[in-house]
Amino acid sequence: MNKVNVHLEEITEHNWYEATQLRVSEEQLSLYPCPIVYWIAESKYATHFCLKAIYADEVMVGFLIYNLDPDDGEYWITTFMIDERFQRKGYAMQALTEFIHYFKNKYDTDKIKLGHRANNVAAANLYEMMGFHINGEIIGDEIVRCYSLK
Ligand SMILES: CC(C)(COP(=O)(O)OP(=O)(O)OC[C@H]1O[C@@H](n2cnc3c(N)ncnc32)[C@H](O)[C@@H]1OP(=O)(O)O)[C@@H](O)C(=O)NCCC(=O)NCCS
Repeated sequence: MNKVNVHLEEITEHNWYEATQLRVSEEQLSLYPCPIVYWIAESKYATHFCLKAIYADEVMVGFLIYNLDPDDGEYWITTFMIDERFQRKGYAMQALTEFIHYFKNKYDTDKIKLGHRANNVAAANLYEMMGFHINGEIIGDEIVRCYSLK
C-alpha cells in the first residue's frame, strides 16, 4: 500500500469554503471551540496570520495557522486541527513534521510556540511526542509549549 502524502497548501479563494467544512467532534468542542470560519474571518484583520490547509493526498483533512506575533516578536502555531473523520491516522504527526520542515527552511528563528488547554490530552500527547515541551508559561486557559529549532 502506498504511503499517504500529507502536505500543506495555502488557503486560497479555491479551497477556503472547503476548509470551513472541517469539524472537530462534539466532545472536542469544549477544548477547541472556534470553527474554522472564525479563524478565516480573524485573518482578514490579523493580516500576519498564515493559513494552511492540510491534505492527505488530494483530500483536505485539517487546518493550521501560524504567525509572527507582533506583540512578543515570536512565532506561534495559532491553531491546528484534524477533522474528526480523519483523526487517529497519524495525519497530525505527519502534518506537524511537514510544517516544521517548511518553517525551518523559510524562517531564521530559534523556536516556535503554541498553546493548548491543559485538559486537551490528545494535543498534549501529540505535541510532547513531537518535541513541543511545556515552558512554564500559561496564557489565559492555555499552557504554552515550545519547539526548539536550533
Ligand atoms: C489533537 C489532534 C490534532 C490530533 O490529530 P490526529 O491526526 O488524530 O493525531 P495522530 O493520529 O497524528 O496521533 C498522534 C499522537 O497524538 C496522540 N493522540 C491523538 N489523538 C489522541 C486521543 N484522542 N487521545 C489521546 N492521545 C491522542 C497520540 O499520542 C498519538 O500517537 P499514537 O497514535 O501513537 O497513540 C486532533 O485530535 C484534533 O484536531 N483535535 C481537535 C483540535 C485540537 O485539539 N487541536 C489542538 C489544540 S490547538
